[in-house]
Amino acid sequence: MADWKKLYEERTMSADKAMELIQDGDRVLFAHAVAEPQILVDAMVANKHLYKDITVSHMVTLGKGEYSLPENHDVFTFEGWFTSPSTRKSIAEGHGEFVPVFFHEVPKYLRQDIFHEDVLLVSVSTPDEHGYCNVGVSSDYTMQAIKSCRTVLAEVNDQVPVVFGDTFVHVSEIDAFVINNHPLFESAPAKIGPVEEAIGKNCASLIEDGATLQLGIGAIPDAVLSQLGEKKHLGIHSEMIADGVVDLFEKGAIDCTEKGIDEGKMVVTFLMGTKKLYDFANKNPMVELRPVDYVNHPEVVAQLKNLVCINACVQVDFMGQIVSECIGTRQISGVGGQVDFVRGAAMSHDGKGKAIIAMPSVATNKKTGEMTSKIVPFIDHGAAVTTSRCDADYIVTEYGIARMKGRPIKDRARQLINIAHPDFREGLKEEFEKRFNCAF
Ligand code: COA
Repeated sequence: MADWKKLYEERTMSADKAMELIQDGDRVLFAHAVAEPQILVDAMVANKHLYKDITVSHMVTLGKGEYSLPENHDVFTFEGWFTSPSTRKSIAEGHGEFVPVFFHEVPKYLRQDIFHEDVLLVSVSTPDEHGYCNVGVSSDYTMQAIKSCRTVLAEVNDQVPVVFGDTFVHVSEIDAFVINNHPLFESAPAKIGPVEEAIGKNCASLIEDGATLQLGIGAIPDAVLSQLGEKKHLGIHSEMIADGVVDLFEKGAIDCTEKGIDEGKMVVTFLMGTKKLYDFANKNPMVELRPVDYVNHPEVVAQLKNLVCINACVQVDFMGQIVSECIGTRQISGVGGQVDFVRGAAMSHDGKGKAIIAMPSVATNKKTGEMTSKIVPFIDHGAAVTTSRCDADYIVTEYGIARMKGRPIKDRARQLINIAHPDFREGLKEEFEKRFNCAF
């Protein structure tokens, strides 16, 4: 479109003015994680007197989550597809809602109007000379939402990187631009202590040169990457990447030459790290952001060669049922892409896909120092199973590796108890004998 500059000028407005485009009863979707437009979200909450009955949805948020607080319940209802520290309480207290969903199905739900969303709030880069902005850190469901929503409100931020892939959106596809340059959300790398290091080493023993890696959310993936410096020809095809991938690339371990598909490219659906990662991805021909219904689709994942998926969890029971998003009835995160990749690895065309669920053997209460075993006879009352016992493959703790696939239940339980924290092993053995009516 030749006159994109005129359109851009006409549609550029203050955040308060842009908020007038939200209507009573609208469902408002935020772009995911780092792509959440901070100024627009603040303006939406500040202008709540303008509307009634607004439902807010999104996957991960790194933001303040003010729309989910009790003082804003008169206007906003939070309906999360994932919960984060700022939004968990709203669900626990009974006002908010949680929707279980496989991440790869989100764009389809938007397309088919199973998720009906009226307004998208998104961050974009400054338009280029052709009139295209870039969604930069998040292709995932954002690209489909731009097509599906009645109204698209964009925060234009010159610190959003320009990342190649399915990430370009023309100025004509956006209804309002609010210019505000500010640093992006950052998620600092987690501390790697001796436990994480030992988990990383155990996972690394399952990763060969030439493997393609998928890395999940949380502290463990970076710990695994820190142990892979000596590997060669690793590839990346991952829902997300964080700073650990940049460090490993700089060590020369990643070249993406043996992936089977998309060779030479790190294919991801969103970025969540620090400025170091966003600078690395900026105009880097090696990094491609693609929608989540490509990156996470089990049929795509299955085509990768020597795939190793590394995700984390909260609890594993004696049968190998994996709880990754709840502590009892408390929803602490979401399904995300865990099952997408676990199933894709199981379907791998070369028969070499490995799905690792890695976790410290205990969770430690920060206030009391009390330890709880993550390996348990029965999952906590009310918890949801994220990865089923039929899908479960490798379980890794700092004490070793347990293999679930094709193994009978008692054997699974014995292997799991052998990689539990030593302080809990005797108690777990007693539980085993009660549960299965036989000697350990
Ligand atoms: N009992 C009690 N508390 C537990 C627990 C258990 N079995 N397991 C974890 N916790 C507590 C931790 O102590 C921690 O509490 P804190 O915040 O007060 O310190 C909290 O729950 C979060 O656990 P932690 O292990 O620190 O989380 P993490 O940031 O490493 O993330 C998951 C781990 C499992 C929550 C995260 O990987 C997830 O959400 N997975 C599901 C989605 C997914 O796998 N997506 C993958 C594709 S990106």
